Amino acid sequence: MSNSYKCPNCGLELLQQQAARSFSCENNHNFDLAKEGYLNLHLAQHKRSRNPGDSDEMIRSRQRFLNTGHYKFLAEGLIKQLSHMSSEQRLLDIGCGEGYYLEQIYRSNQSLQLVGLDISKAAVRLAAKRKLSAQLAVDSAFNMALFDHSVDSAISVFSPISPEEAARVIKPGGTLIMVGPGEQHLSGLTAQIYDKTMARTGNFEALDSSQQFTQLDQIELLEELHIQGSAIADLLHMTPYYWHAKPQQQERLKNLNRLETPAHFIIRRYQNTQT
Ligand SMILES: C[S@@+](CC[C@H](N)C(=O)[O-])C[C@H]1O[C@@H](n2cnc3c(N)ncnc32)[C@H](O)[C@@H]1O
Ligand SMILES: [Zn+2]
Repeated sequence: MSNSYKCPNCGLELLQQQAARSFSCENNHNFDLAKEGYLNLHLAQHKRSRNPGDSDEMIRSRQRFLNTGHYKFLAEGLIKQLSHMSSEQRLLDIGCGEGYYLEQIYRSNQSLQLVGLDISKAAVRLAAKRKLSAQLAVDSAFNMALFDHSVDSAISVFSPISPEEAARVIKPGGTLIMVGPGEQHLSGLTAQIYDKTMARTGNFEALDSSQQFTQLDQIELLEELHIQGSAIADLLHMTPYYWHAKPQQQERLKNLNRLETPAHFIIRRYQNTQT
């Protein structure tokens, strides 16, 4: 039961129909598996827009940028913070995007059971194409189609989070790892867009006042990046800064040959104190 999805309509277990590419519950709510191998469990009546989450263009830019390896050091730092996990344990990536971090985790430890959820269908489709034998679904972090206490640990990399919902699905005593921006994150890029430096708290704020989690520790990772060519435009497109940049700033950044900027990350580990 705990490894399966929970029907978003009625809460019963979703079972895969034999020889069929679909899942259904005893109440006959039916969900077809997309050809890439993911489920869409985000119900139309819960959607705030037609295509919620990051757009196709943002997702593709992020995939191209991440595939250059500029953020590999973050993936490696994240993997070290997961060393407490033993084989066959279930790890959930909340807001997994196009699956870069899931793939890095999979390559480092194929014995974990990986689950990835994101509200963007474009993102989950690309994540499924990575063929990681992970359970992947289009779903909201605020109402996940997973049973209570059904994952051992979860990660959230620059994604929205509901502490209440995360604490419901993570086992009592289990770990939540959040990644967000450090003070100097992408300051070489933002200096081209804003006059003043921007204070960024990422999604940590949601956890600061949380009754469900206590912080265990925090590490910071900082690297100077030398970004060249089209990867500069991809970096701009994958961040919200794109929407804040004026057309002439966008143009200037796109025509740069080289961008120097620190990438500065904070990785915090929290423990689920709910019982
Ligand atoms: C900054 S991206 C990070 C993606 C990925 N973790 C990474 O670092 O490459 C934020 C992600 O959160 C997703 N997202 C936004 N709102 C969400 C929600 N309510 N539930 C789940 N995912 C959401 C977006 O679609 C996007 O893929
Ligand atoms: Zn149902």
